[in-house]
Amino acid sequence: MKVLVIGGTGTIGSFVTQELWKRGYEITLLVRGLSRQVFPNELETSVVHGDRRDVSLLRTIAEHNFDVVVDLACYEPQDAETAVQTFSGKIEQYLFVSTVDVYTKPAAVYPVTEDAERNPRKSFAYAWKKAQCEEVFFKAHREKRCAVTIIRPAHTYCEGVTPLLQVFGWTTDHLDRIRKGKPVMLHGDGTSLWSSLYAEDLAIPLARALLNPVAYGKAYNIASEEIMCWNRLYEIVADVIGVPLCPVYVPARVLGQVFPEKALWCVENFQYSNVFSVALAKEDLGFATRTSYRDGVTRCLRWFAENGGFDNSDSPRFDFYERFLKVWETSMRSLTETLVRDTGSVG
Ligand SMILES: NC(=O)c1ccc[n+]([C@@H]2O[C@H](COP(=O)([O-])OP(=O)(O)OC[C@H]3O[C@@H](n4cnc5c(N)ncnc54)[C@H](OP(=O)(O)O)[C@@H]3O)[C@@H](O)[C@H]2O)c1
Repeated sequence: MKVLVIGGTGTIGSFVTQELWKRGYEITLLVRGLSRQVFPNELETSVVHGDRRDVSLLRTIAEHNFDVVVDLACYEPQDAETAVQTFSGKIEQYLFVSTVDVYTKPAAVYPVTEDAERNPRKSFAYAWKKAQCEEVFFKAHREKRCAVTIIRPAHTYCEGVTPLLQVFGWTTDHLDRIRKGKPVMLHGDGTSLWSSLYAEDLAIPLARALLNPVAYGKAYNIASEEIMCWNRLYEIVADVIGVPLCPVYVPARVLGQVFPEKALWCVENFQYSNVFSVALAKEDLGFATRTSYRDGVTRCLRWFAENGGFDNSDSPRFDFYERFLKVWETSMRSLTETLVRDTGSVG
């Protein structure tokens, strides 16, 4: 099988490439060469360095008789259109890696199945555009331009990225805060539900979808079956580090008002419960959660220890965090004090 992997060196793509390589497929990677490689120079693959938005490059690549394109780097509907136009009639299957964020939040019913409403808010641009990309690919499938399969991962991590997201997204200063025993912010009261999957566990079902007619025209949720509230995720990480957790709870709405950009993903996403059915992926593609969160966290923290550590939470870059916490704690104290002063008690 000849496979073009667009974006095969990132968090998910590295494990996908490794899995396809194990299966003896002939692999070509298209990447810009900007991202850190999880398995540098380990696998025998052809690598084309270039931007998937370079239409003439994409056209040249499309002449190489691929059976399948696995697309891990499509974020814009225009790029989906270009891909469909370029590869139609030249490949058997296009596998688009989308996201579970295409579903309407909060969901009407949990767990969210693949046929749930997909109407993400426009203010959550990433999700909104991914949903548009899906429409482009589904249309190509309906028009029989190529068979399309869509994989919708929930949060997926591996060595080199944080296994634990935070109210401000993807930096690792919160891990440094936990390590140093500093207070760390959690949104709401830490009880919304979330799951995080080790990337290797996604690669196997994805590989099984390739040239598999059962998967044609279908979308699959892929998410860890270890569904936990944020408090538990944070407790596990603190436990692996070997320190007690000092959580400070702040409503997502407050974070969004004060930090409209930094807290965007928290407001649009993390504050809601994220529980997805993986029954279809289990049935069709043999998906299983093989790596426990604790084991995945242990691997990632070891990687950080061996590769320069976390973002330093004492750096001036993160002064905003400390300043907010100080004002927040003072405001909460003064709320109670004012109520007691004015009425003699809080109740
Ligand atoms: N990780 C998650 O939690 C998660 C969850 C849901 C969905 N997804 C989806 O899964 C896909 C992969 O995610 P990831 O976390 O593995 O991403 P990632 O770590 O950022 O990797 C992205 C890959 O795409 C390549 N790339 C990016 N822009 C490119 C371009 N314009 N042209 C060519 N190559 C490009 C990158 O290499 P270069 O930078 O060197 O080009 C890298 O190999 C994405 O589509 C994402 O939306 C991820």
